[in-house]
Amino acid sequence: MERDPYPLYRTLREGFPVVRDELLGAWLLSRYADVRAALVATRLGPPGPRPSPVHLRLLEPALRSSAGRTAFVLARRIAGRREADLVAEFSAWLPAAAAVAALGLPWEDATRVQEWCRTGHTQSGALHPELAALLRPHIARRRAHPGADLLSVLCGARVDGQALSDATVTGLAGTLLTGGGEATALALASFLANLLDHPAQLNLVRARPGLIPGAWAESLRRDPPAPVVLRRATAPMTLGGTTLPAGAVLACLVGSAGRDPFRFADPDRYDIFRADPVDPAGPEAPAHLAFGAGQHLCPVSPLAGLVAECGLRALLDAMPGLRWAPGFRPAPRGLMARAPRLLLVRPS
Ligand code: HEM
Repeated sequence: MERDPYPLYRTLREGFPVVRDELLGAWLLSRYADVRAALVATRLGPPGPRPSPVHLRLLEPALRSSAGRTAFVLARRIAGRREADLVAEFSAWLPAAAAVAALGLPWEDATRVQEWCRTGHTQSGALHPELAALLRPHIARRRAHPGADLLSVLCGARVDGQALSDATVTGLAGTLLTGGGEATALALASFLANLLDHPAQLNLVRARPGLIPGAWAESLRRDPPAPVVLRRATAPMTLGGTTLPAGAVLACLVGSAGRDPFRFADPDRYDIFRADPVDPAGPEAPAHLAFGAGQHLCPVSPLAGLVAECGLRALLDAMPGLRWAPGFRPAPRGLMARAPRLLLVRPS
């Protein structure tokens, strides 16, 4: 199951689309339409810190340039080598290191933040006290002596005429440092694996970087890093003809929804030119559900895409002959957090 949940997903979709798993104490939802409906209809508890579009506009330029620089350095380190593991030396590092660099924090902090993300220390939704303690002196210094980094930009920013409070700056910096560090790292590993597995599509993306966002979205559809999103029904709801009681725990199988043949033709295929019918919810709706849907849709999905794009561009620029190491095949694993944990390549 850890290695290949897809046969089970298919069995569920075809025969038991809405079924209670007594062992998990949750209702498993496996069809695209039901997963989407559940994500849109249910609410999580009290909303956690959620960056607004105004905040995102503050974060994006600094993250773009730091992700570009960080990816360049990591890629150059690998380029001259005979063999390298793109997970250990690239994808596991890039998201956290780019955030640390954007904020202008010392490099030693990248290791600590990355370790917190890796051990799931930071997934509770609340800002971890150690992280707040790490940021406090840096924020105080930027308030006194602003520089050019993102932390200084946040300290000096005014939204609706108001300066951002220390708590908001800490929340935004903390979200950036930890929020999706692991998800982005896993998604990037799957993205690289999908492209390396399809050299013709990789060559197209290399020649036409405008194809990268579509290639990234297609990888998220086929191989989402968080294939199960847990929600709780706040009121009784009917899905696929079954009525679920209020309070029911719903395991939204996003990984199964992305492979639903009723929504995506030939769904196991990785195809950067995939042209599937517009989502029934309207053309604005995202086709894949890797970032969730509805009110809790991941608020920073553009930032994750930006890091992935910078990462891929840097690798392709530094390594024109990038390909799998002889005999290597990626082996994604994980049910709740899924990606290949090893990507052995020949850099040149
Ligand atoms: C490829 C990378 C990412 C994936 C696949 C992802 C996925 C998701 C999903 C599925 C949700 C919805 C959870 C639910 O409905 O219960 C979510 C919410 C959220 N994500 Fe992401 N995420 C990613 C990157 C990030 C990054 C980089 C950050 C922070 C910088 C972040 C911050 C958040 C926050 C704050 C929420 C909560 C939104 C709310 O409760 O309203 N995510 N993400």
